[in-house]
Amino acid sequence: MSDLLQYDASAADAIFADQQRPALVERLTAAREALFADAAGDSTATRFSPLDAGFVNWPERLLHDEKELERIETTATRFRKEADDVILLGIGGSAMGPRAIFSSLCDPYHNERTGEARRQAPRFYFEGDNLDNNTLVALLERLAQLPDQRWHLVVTSKSGGTVETAVALRIFLASLESHRDDVGRALAVITGEESPLRGLATALQCQDIFTIPESVGGRFSVLTAVGMLPSAIMGVDIRRLLEGAATMTAHCREAPLGENPVLDHAATGIIAETQHETTIRVLSVWSRGLESLGLWHDQLLSESLGKDGRGATPLTAVNTRDLHSRGQQHQQGRRDKLITNLLVEEPQVTPLVVPPRPDDLDDLNRLAGRTIPELLDAAVTGTNQAYAEDGRPTADIRLPRLDEFGLGQLMQMLMLSTAIEGYATGINPFGQPGVEAYKRHMQNELDRVADDRQISGAEDRP
Ligand code: PA5
Repeated sequence: MSDLLQYDASAADAIFADQQRPALVERLTAAREALFADAAGDSTATRFSPLDAGFVNWPERLLHDEKELERIETTATRFRKEADDVILLGIGGSAMGPRAIFSSLCDPYHNERTGEARRQAPRFYFEGDNLDNNTLVALLERLAQLPDQRWHLVVTSKSGGTVETAVALRIFLASLESHRDDVGRALAVITGEESPLRGLATALQCQDIFTIPESVGGRFSVLTAVGMLPSAIMGVDIRRLLEGAATMTAHCREAPLGENPVLDHAATGIIAETQHETTIRVLSVWSRGLESLGLWHDQLLSESLGKDGRGATPLTAVNTRDLHSRGQQHQQGRRDKLITNLLVEEPQVTPLVVPPRPDDLDDLNRLAGRTIPELLDAAVTGTNQAYAEDGRPTADIRLPRLDEFGLGQLMQMLMLSTAIEGYATGINPFGQPGVEAYKRHMQNELDRVADDRQISGAEDRP
C-alpha cells in the first residue's frame, strides 16, 4: 500500500455533473506557481500583503536545520525529565495545531495513564485560549495539589500581545514564582522576532526561546517550533512529521490536477462554492482522535478564506457520533454542504471483536466475530451511499495510517490547499484583519473601564 494519502471526489463530481474540473486546470496551476514563487521569495508580482508563504518549504528547511532540530529535541528531553505536567499557553494558530497533534497521535487517555504508560511524557493541559475563570482556577488548583510541583510552561504567541495568552502567562508565572526562584528554567517560549514576550522571557533568564519565522502566519505555523516543541515533549517523532509534510509539498509541486490531492481538494471546494452555492464544508472525521484536527482545520479555512463577504463556512463532524446529531440535516437539510470524509485505513491498535452471547437477547449474534473497524467501514459506506442517493456531494481523504508521516502529509495538504484556493479565487489567505478589530475594541473597552475606575476612585477620595 502506498504511504501517500489519497483524495477521491468522484462521488461529488457525479452529483455536480458539470465537468468543471478541466476548466480549473489553468487557474489552479497558476495559483500553485504563484504560491511557490512567493514561498521562494522570487515572485515578480506578489499580489498579497501580508504574505506568509514561508510555510510551504518550512518542513524541508527545518529538516535540513540540524542545529534547530537538536535544540528543540534537547529542550523537549529536559522537559520530559523535569516535568510531570506541561501547560501549553496559546490561542488560535498558536495552540490548535499542537492540540490536534496531541489528540491525533497520543493515547486518548494520555493524562490518566501512569508515567511509564505515557513513555515518560508529561501530562498535557491547554490554557491561555480563553478568558474562562472556571478552567483557569481548576487547573491552578490541580497544579497546587501536585506533591512536588514538577510542572513547566510552554508559551506560544507570535505577536506576544494577545491578551488571553499574556494574562494566562502572568497568572501561571505568579504560581510558578510562588514555589521556585528559577522560573526561567520551567519555561519555554515560542514567539515572533520582535515580540514583547521575547523581552519578558529574556528577563526571566529563559534559555529556551524559539522563533516563529516572520514569513509563517499563526495558523500555518504548526510545523515550526509552535507544533514541533510540544510534539517532541509528547514523544512524537517530529522528524517523521516533517518528512510527511515535505513529501506532500514535493508531490504538490509536481503532480497534475487529477493526481494531486492539494489541487484536487481545492478544485472541489471552488466548484462547490462558485457553481453550486454549496457554502458549508463539513469535514467528517471518522475517529474521535481527529476532532481537534478538524477544529484546527476549521480555523485554517475560516480565518484564511472568510474575507470580503466570501469564503465557505467550515464545520467538523465526528462520526459516527454526529450522525445521530447532525446527520439528519446533512442528509435532508439545505443543499449547501460539501462533505469531506477523513478516513484512516489501518487501525492504530488491535481491533476489538464483537463477542457472542449465548442468550442473544440483544439480537447481536449476527455481528459476533466482526471487528469495530469493520462496523465503522460499513457505516462509512452506508453513509456515503445514503448521501449519494439524496444527491449530497461527498469526497474522501484516505490516510493509510494515523502516524507521524500521515499526519504531516495531511496538515501540509490542508494548508497548501487552503492557500492555493485563496490564490485561485483572489482572496488573500494570510492575515486576519477582522480579528484585529475585535482586539482593538476590546483594548479600548478595557482602557475605558480603567479610566472610569480612576475617576470614581478620585471622586471617592476625601
Ligand atoms: O492564524 C492566526 O494568525 C491567528 O489565529 C493567531 O495564531 C492567533 O490570533 C494568536 O496570535 P498570537 O500567536 O500572536 O498570540
